[in-house]
Amino acid sequence: MKRVTLPRYILERQKEHSFATGEFSILLSQIALAGKIIADELVHAGLADVLGRTGAVNVQGEEVQKLDELANEVFISALQFSGLVCTLVSEEMAEATNFPGASAEGRYVVLVDPLDGSSNIDNNGPVGSIFSIQRRVNLKSPPSDEDILQKGSRLLAAGYILYGPSTVLVYSTGNGVQGFTLDRRIGEFVLSHPEIKVPKRGKTYSVNCGRYAYWHPWTQKYFDYVNAVDAPTKRPYSLRYIGALVADMHRTLLDGGIFLYPADTANPKRPTGKLRLLYEAFPMAYLMEQAGGRAITGTERILDIQPTELHQRVPLILGSPEDVTVAESFAKAGASPACATT
Ligand code: AHG
Ligand code: MN
Ligand code: MN
Repeated sequence: MKRVTLPRYILERQKEHSFATGEFSILLSQIALAGKIIADELVHAGLADVLGRTGAVNVQGEEVQKLDELANEVFISALQFSGLVCTLVSEEMAEATNFPGASAEGRYVVLVDPLDGSSNIDNNGPVGSIFSIQRRVNLKSPPSDEDILQKGSRLLAAGYILYGPSTVLVYSTGNGVQGFTLDRRIGEFVLSHPEIKVPKRGKTYSVNCGRYAYWHPWTQKYFDYVNAVDAPTKRPYSLRYIGALVADMHRTLLDGGIFLYPADTANPKRPTGKLRLLYEAFPMAYLMEQAGGRAITGTERILDIQPTELHQRVPLILGSPEDVTVAESFAKAGASPACATT
């Protein structure tokens, strides 16, 4: 069987991306290393004292799980000595972290959600890590917002690692989407899903229906639409919702359909939904578009948004192009101010 490992694959396609020779392979191999370490921690989580909460609350106002913190530390150690990364942005750190010494000259900003789907940790549900890479804009002065708050359309690469029954790494550098499965026998990610393309239309929708009462009318109308009986458009769709963006994204990417975390009215302080723009919505939108899908807020393309804050939230609707276009028509018909991203 021809086994194409991740390092071999990156070297064979070196010329396709806009990183300087060898730099992307170093970055991705360090991210893959972080993924292997986290995967191993998760496999033994129930046996070590890494389940549960740390008792701290992060900048998101959410209780920090021990594995959130551990995963964050793993990404810091994997990246800070590469000499390529000047700054790390993480869901688990209030401020962007500029790495000292030689790394201060690094040409890349890496953005991570070190552990996504934390509420699934203690019940052994699927979780993931999300990463993306921006090129530093201003090489002269210390890294600034200009380097960090860049539109998703400027991303050099994005990907995720899904810790499920198998550990899968999916990434894109702007030339399609590739998937690799961790072969624990050799400790390498091996090509398993080359050139992933999302089906034009699917048969599932993925949303936390428990928030129906808080949704804006257009979202309720779209939900009622996908649940109505209509054979020609293969409705009603089936509901699949795992509560971890990486897992819901991976299923949508491979099987088609639509994922929504829309804006709602539950919390006036959080009018634009729960998911974070920089390290959740941008990387997933980048991947979905690279696979032939779409990613919008409801009325706006995610990758066109100009970020203004590190941890700003945004409504996220992504998946098969035909399904997202139908949802978009509901949003545009009944667009509410919260669909904007301000
Ligand atoms: P994180 O664990 O990184 O904070 O992300 C959790 C997010 C995302 O993974 C998922 O799509 C969403 O939270 C689920 O939210 P609900 O539990 O409100 O459905
Ligand atoms: Mn997350
Ligand atoms: Mn997280």
